Amino acid sequence: MKREKLIHDRHGRILKFSQERCDELVYFKLDHAGACAAYAHGRIDGAVLVITDLFVESNCVIRQPDFLKRLFGQKTSAINFQNQGIGSQLVITMITYARSKGLMRIENRWPENDVRRDSPLAQWFQKRGFKADEASMKMDLKAPAHDDSKYMPKP
Ligand SMILES: CC(C)(COP(=O)(O)OP(=O)(O)OC[C@H]1O[C@@H](n2cnc3c(N)ncnc32)[C@H](O)[C@@H]1OP(=O)(O)O)[C@@H](O)C(=O)NCCC(=O)NCCS
Repeated sequence: MKREKLIHDRHGRILKFSQERCDELVYFKLDHAGACAAYAHGRIDGAVLVITDLFVESNCVIRQPDFLKRLFGQKTSAINFQNQGIGSQLVITMITYARSKGLMRIENRWPENDVRRDSPLAQWFQKRGFKADEASMKMDLKAPAHDDSKYMPKP
């Protein structure tokens, strides 16, 4: 089932957020004026949400919104959606989604996408709470059980 919602970016531009699940595949997408501004894809693998792709458009081409500019030949306009928190927000959305489905972990597996272990992008994920190991970059989603024994009366 596809869900849609209108939100605003930091510059007040209207973005249509949509979320869709097809079997084990999950899609999150942001459209602006009919063009794709950003997306994140994931695959549910057992108790893990594997991030298969994440992209924020730096050159989103839309129909020029200004009628006068269109009249004088400027038919399209390009928008950079990067570096305004959209990628971070998509990761938070995926984490929230995974938690809501009771999944234990969210992962970015090294060979499956373009993220190399020593790349700035790996650091980008680490800054957002992911930890790197041999096979992937991951974040555990289940909090460790609380130790409530200190509240028990002493014998
Ligand atoms: C990497 C990407 C998802 C980040 O999304 P974004 O919305 O631009 O990033 P945010 O605004 O949430 O975060 C901004 C921070 O990310 C950094 N950043 C932006 N693009 C980056 C990149 N390609 N690599 C490393 N860091 C990057 C910025 O310098 C900024 O750093 P700061 O927090 O220290 O100021 C986006 O730039 C992108 O899609 N890049 C190209 C495709 C790609 O590499 N996809 C990942 C495949 S899994």
